[in-house]
Amino acid sequence: MSIHTNDIKRITTHILQEMKYNNEKIAMLTGYDFSLAKIVDTAGIDIILVGDSASNVMAGHETTLPITLDQMIYHASSVVRAAQRALVVVDLPFGSYQGNSKEALSSAIRIMKESGAHAVKMEGGSEILESIERILSAGIPVMGHLGLTPQSIYKFGTYVVRAKEEEEAKKLLEDAKLLEDAGCFAIVLEKIPAHLATKVAKEVKIPIIGIGAGNGVDGQVLVLHDMLGITHEFSPRFLRRYNNLYEEIKGSVEAYIKDVKSVDFPNEKEQY
Ligand code: KIV
Repeated sequence: MSIHTNDIKRITTHILQEMKYNNEKIAMLTGYDFSLAKIVDTAGIDIILVGDSASNVMAGHETTLPITLDQMIYHASSVVRAAQRALVVVDLPFGSYQGNSKEALSSAIRIMKESGAHAVKMEGGSEILESIERILSAGIPVMGHLGLTPQSIYKFGTYVVRAKEEEEAKKLLEDAKLLEDAGCFAIVLEKIPAHLATKVAKEVKIPIIGIGAGNGVDGQVLVLHDMLGITHEFSPRFLRRYNNLYEEIKGSVEAYIKDVKSVDFPNEKEQY
């Protein structure tokens, strides 16, 4: 007898592959905490990415570099407790996998064991292939990430569109094929020309998820706090805002402060 009592079908890497074959687009959003991840999962998202963008939106750092493996595990375990349907993918943070494939494997194992997540994501192509292969050989699904890779921001020096020049575009396509051959189950393409992303999605068989990469790919990802309008200083062209929670939350807090100061809150019905 199965110990699993609910019949919600979990999205798997195989389902994502079928979605690509069936031309069904994949919807992915970031998540960092239990409460919002629960809403996102219940709404029917396919993948929740515990992105190292937590370093920016949750911790207020300027870049994704400072977030630690322990902090990623904390965010990931909160999201895993909320997600009943979505596949939960976790970013390996900067410094936990570059340069040493043994360390990369032990970082990935820690994420899988301590958070209960279903896959990891890693930024880069040929430079990190050994680490990717080692993690895959342990049975851990890996999502790649090419194009603008924010962990390398100090190498790029800027967040502008990547791979506009032919040489970089050629390397990106080669890297995508390398990641596919290695056994990655999907690749995120960030901030590259739409025609290049479309070409990659056509030439590799695994799902390509875009952010600022046009609509010729197999799915889209956005940072949850950006699309909800909780962050409001950041307005790249690719971002569609579905709400203005910054103003809504600020307005609610202002109303609460007013009610407390005026002794309108709590009223007789709100006390014992
Ligand atoms: O960390 C993150 O949120 C990401 C997405 C932008 C893809 O990697």
